[in-house]
Amino acid sequence: MATVPYPVYNITSSVPSPADKWIAPQTVNKAVVNRANERPTQKMIIAVPAISMGDGLRPIDMSHDLPQVIDLLRMVFGDSLDGDEHKLFGGTGLGGLNGLAYRMHPAAARLSNGFVWQAEGHIVGNATLLTTKTWDRYLVANVAVHPSYRRQGIARKLMDAITTSVRARGGRVILLQVVKDNQSALDLYRSLGYISIANMTTWYATASRVREIPAMLPGERAPNIELLSDRQWREAYELDTTHVKADLNWPEPLPPDAYRRGLWRRFGDMLNGRQNETWTTSDSRGRLTGLASIYGEWGRSYLLTLRVHPDCAGQLERPLLAKAIRRLHYLPRRNVRIDHPEADERTGTLLRESNFTVQRTLTHMRLDISR
Ligand SMILES: CC(C)(COP(=O)(O)OP(=O)(O)OC[C@H]1O[C@@H](n2cnc3c(N)ncnc32)[C@H](O)[C@@H]1OP(=O)(O)O)[C@@H](O)C(=O)NCCC(=O)NCCS
Repeated sequence: MATVPYPVYNITSSVPSPADKWIAPQTVNKAVVNRANERPTQKMIIAVPAISMGDGLRPIDMSHDLPQVIDLLRMVFGDSLDGDEHKLFGGTGLGGLNGLAYRMHPAAARLSNGFVWQAEGHIVGNATLLTTKTWDRYLVANVAVHPSYRRQGIARKLMDAITTSVRARGGRVILLQVVKDNQSALDLYRSLGYISIANMTTWYATASRVREIPAMLPGERAPNIELLSDRQWREAYELDTTHVKADLNWPEPLPPDAYRRGLWRRFGDMLNGRQNETWTTSDSRGRLTGLASIYGEWGRSYLLTLRVHPDCAGQLERPLLAKAIRRLHYLPRRNVRIDHPEADERTGTLLRESNFTVQRTLTHMRLDISR
């Protein structure tokens, strides 16, 4: 007599033991029982499906999983911002879309690459994999496990699935951000081979609180500060990435033409009411030594950037920041944000003097995928 596939349900364990590789939902938790020697039975077998079909690890199915994933993220992260958990799902406005509408949404393609862990028919774990404009560079966000299911290896399995998936696509680098004091997540990522690149602090000041600071202290000489000239955009990029590694720009690395302000870009900015200006200092040979940029668009906080060549560290931060803050008075009134390396304590002190407060510090981590 032939062997008949016969589903057996686990009635003791509420969480399946973590799968070592992805198992198709249809076959998950099924076992095959050889019934060759059994007589056709009169007995009634009551099987309690403690584990639902599809339990365990699987790729996210955006058309079905989205509401549950959003619920999980809301429950785990609440209103806090964690890593890049800018509510990547909720924040996109995709949460309310149904399956078909979702697939039509341009943001869907970027978000649809993660993995979920399902237990008893509910999604209890999630890790989102994001593509970037650089083909071999991926981001991980929204790593979350329901509190009742923690310390069972679920996050590790989700992250392993992410690495396997990126490797299979030919990816070389995975980046993520994690709140600096989130020790359990840091331990998880380190144990998987991620290394810290640097900590970036987000500073914030409301429009009414941001305060002008003196451009120099008694006895100091004020440097000459000028608008970035059109021909210096490459040099500005070099200086920026000398101070802050390109990887620390999230979600995309700084584009090489970030400081290029061609005619079309100016025209576009003007049409869209965007403010974009960069102030510079130079040495006696005309080489750029420092940059302070202000970027603003309607409905958003101004984004400041401050970059100083390592050779001039400690000399230019104050005058450049003072200049940028003075310039804000000539622009529409808005709150101000600056993302800056935590290690630059001098700038931190100046930002405090200007009434900025720390919103959060994120550790940026990187995994280099070996072939
Ligand atoms: C961080 C989180 C995803 C871990 O999920 P998890 O399923 O419990 O993790 P795992 O069981 O797979 O643990 C894997 C490793 O992570 C580390 N880890 C997880 N929880 C930890 C804890 N509470 N304390 C210390 N280390 C911890 C350990 O190194 C662990 O390995 P080990 O069990 O061999 O010691 C989960 O705690 C969570 O959802 N936290 C809230 C959301 C969050 O902070 N997400 C990260 C955003 S970047």
